[in-house]
Amino acid sequence: MSRPTHTLKHEHRIIEQALRALDGICTRLELGEQIPIEALNQMLDFVQIYADRFHHEKEELHLFPALQESGMQVEGGPLGFLKQEHHTERQLLIDLGVAVTDFRHGNETAKQRIIDIARNYSRHLLSHIRREDAILFMLAEEILDEPAKTSINYAFAKAENNFGDKSVDHYEQMAAELEKAWSV
Ligand SMILES: [Fe+2]
Ligand SMILES: [Fe+2]
Repeated sequence: MSRPTHTLKHEHRIIEQALRALDGICTRLELGEQIPIEALNQMLDFVQIYADRFHHEKEELHLFPALQESGMQVEGGPLGFLKQEHHTERQLLIDLGVAVTDFRHGNETAKQRIIDIARNYSRHLLSHIRREDAILFMLAEEILDEPAKTSINYAFAKAENNFGDKSVDHYEQMAAELEKAWSV
């Protein structure tokens, strides 16, 4: 059976594709290029649904609690820190959503706000991903026993099946298309 950290690492690689697109969109906006509102909406949809609601929720609802049960510290420890980072990323996505709406309505400050928030979000999420890949997932492989890993795998499969209107595959395809269209 595949290991839960492999699934999460795979999702990290998909999220990185979308972040390369987001950085490309920022560079193009800085250079004065016109970006269609549909591309911004698609980008927002991906980070809100796949990165935040799907990926971060899987970590928060299944991996982190299993690690906590195995003795890893939450408050003042790595899990508390990573949860706080998810919270910061969620906050940035709310701000990005407002900026994209303002941009659609022709607000003059919206373009610069999109660039600033998106760059900040991308930087923040990339360093978060690196921390999880390099430290947390390695510890998880050592700390979690086989029954715990199997139960996380089942919970992940359930989350995938209950994804919503559009499938996980749809969003993974979307990340590849966004990267192809907008990364620089
Ligand atoms: Fe995370
Ligand atoms: Fe993650």
